[in-house]
Formats: sequence, C-alpha cells, structure tokens
Amino acid sequence: MDNTIDWGSLGFQYMKTDYNVRCYYRDGQWGELEVSSSEQINIHMASTCLHYGQEAFEGLKAFRGKDGKIRVFRPDENALRLQHTSDGIMLAKLPTEKFLEAVKKVIKLNERFVPPYESGCSLYIRPLLIGVSPKIGVGASQEYLFIVFVQPVGPYFKDGFKATPVVILRGYDRAAPLGTGTFKVGGNYAASLVPGAKGHAMGYSAVLYLDAKEKKYVDECGPANFFGIKGNKYITPKSTSILPSITNKSLQQLAKDFGMEVEQRQIPEEELATFEEAGECGTAAVVSPISKIDDIDLKRTYEYSKDGKPGPVCTKLYNTLRAIQYGDMPDTHNWVMIVD
Ligand code: PLP
Ligand code: COI
Repeated sequence: MDNTIDWGSLGFQYMKTDYNVRCYYRDGQWGELEVSSSEQINIHMASTCLHYGQEAFEGLKAFRGKDGKIRVFRPDENALRLQHTSDGIMLAKLPTEKFLEAVKKVIKLNERFVPPYESGCSLYIRPLLIGVSPKIGVGASQEYLFIVFVQPVGPYFKDGFKATPVVILRGYDRAAPLGTGTFKVGGNYAASLVPGAKGHAMGYSAVLYLDAKEKKYVDECGPANFFGIKGNKYITPKSTSILPSITNKSLQQLAKDFGMEVEQRQIPEEELATFEEAGECGTAAVVSPISKIDDIDLKRTYEYSKDGKPGPVCTKLYNTLRAIQYGDMPDTHNWVMIVD
C-alpha cells in the first residue's frame, strides 16, 4: 500500500498511478492486452474520436475489505453497458472476458493504490474506448483503442454523505429522447458542462434534468440517476434518455430486499412534492441524498432535509451498498468480483 498518500483528504480527482492497460482493435480483431507506464496516448489528429465523438467510457470501483481482499463491484455490468454504448455509436465491441481481464490486470499492477479499508476510499477504474482511424468524412473508425486506468478516490461530492441541493435549469437538455442518453459517451457530458458550471456557481451540487421533449418528467442528474422515496416505495424514472445506472439497478434490488416496492416509471415534476426523501445514485456519487430541488425558472422548491441530514431510507441504502462493496455484508446477489 502507498504510505505517502493522505487518504483522508482524497477527493474525486485524477492521480497518476503506475500502469495502465491497453488493447487495440485492428484488422477486424482485438489484440493482446498491453501494459503501459505512460500517461500519454499517441493518436492520429484525424481520429474519429476527436472529430465525430466516437468515444465511450465506463466507471467502476474496487474496494479493499477488512480481510485485505480487493473486491470489484459488478464489472460484468460495465462490460455489458460498454457493449450497449458500442452498438449505439458504432464502436468495435469488446468481449466481456477481455474487459474483465483488463480490469483485473490493471488493479493488480496498481495494487499499492487500492486504499486501505479504514480510509473509506476506493480505487476508481476508468475504461475508455476510442475510434483512432483517420477520417475526414463522417463515418465509423476501422481501428479502436481500449484503455483502462485507475486512481484512488474519496467522495465525489466534497461534503461526503450529506444531503445537498440540486437545481432544475429549464434552459438546458442533457440528451434527446431518441438520442445518446442511454450511452456513456463523452458528448452527453459535454452537453452538461455549461449547465453544470452554472449550477455550481449558484451553490448547487448538481443539475437535475427534465425530459427534453415535454419538460414534464424527471430524467436524471448530470453524473448520476435520480430516485425518490414515498412511504414504502422506491421510485425512479423510466426514460429513453438516461444512463442505465448499475448503482440504481443495485439499489432497486436492495430496496426489494428491504421489503419495499420498486416503481420504475415516468415521474412528473409535481410528484417531487410528494417524496419524503430524494437522492442521486451512481458509481462516483454512491448514494447522495438531496436536501432540496429548486426549479429556478418556475420558482418552485421541493424540500427533503433542512439541516443536510440524510433521511433514513437513503442512509440504509447507502450503508448496505457500501457494506456489500467492502465485504462487510454477505454478497447474496453475486455482485462482487474478487481480485486475487
Ligand atoms: N447517470 C449518469 C449520467 C452517469 O454519468 C452515471 C455514472 O456512471 C450514472 C448515471 C450512474 O451509473 P452507474 O451507477 O452505473 O455508475
Ligand atoms: C461514474 O460515476 O462512474 C461516472 O462516470 C460519473 C462521472 C464521474 C462522469
């Protein structure tokens, strides 16, 4: 383990680690995994990833348990989602076995960066898939580069597990109903930069997007899915423009395990007034409770926590998810891959 890192002050930032793993797709097939210690990539200036957005990424985490074992949370789901994204923007599809092999390899090579159990930190794994053939006409690449790099991270929102305010900015959409919203492509995040910066400047931790067509239903946040709690129900949006979150899928299962009812359906904005709790969820965000939602343009506010204290259901979901990820609770759904 690296003794020079101050785990307590780790945020969610890039940090250089020892190695990354790469794999090229050429002549219609994937090559062998290659290990690199360089942080640079050398690609053609006319690469399709640079001009036509032929770029996809993923995000997942590894955790060191009390028993010293390293656990990766649902990496097979990230492999499948990358394949879904690849279908969406015509990238070469990486087989699940290759994805898992790369993830295991990069973790082992950087084992000293997997934070200690006590720190509450984790190793964030960032797979990236880009088209690297030169093209000036719009079209898909023939060659692709898949890279996986890692870095130790602390909480995504700097206050940690505390309820924070989010904002609806009706002047912006993240993704179109039949567009790229369900794919994890860089362009969706580019679209969220201006509203995200505006939201942050106004003191909000994130922007909550409404459906782009009718501006009637709740979609998701910039970097995370949305859920609300009403009585014994876990309610989360069904939409053709949101990322299928692996954390959300897991929380839905946990909510069912707790004996709650799960509803995945359209959520009209007005329904926000009926929730007792609301939260964001994602790999980086984990479970981030929402204190209030301001719909600035319509001058409406939906409030869930006055003092920043997370509600009981958000707290139980957060604690249970983390306990499974760190190996403190049995992995009854077979979500964890142990790296040994
Ligand atoms: N929605 C968006 C837009 C995201 O970027 C993420 C993060 O990956 C999520 C939702 C959450 O997905 P997951 O739980 O698979 O990390
Ligand atoms: C993640 O949670 O892994 C994400 O990709 C969200 C954000 C950092 C882009």
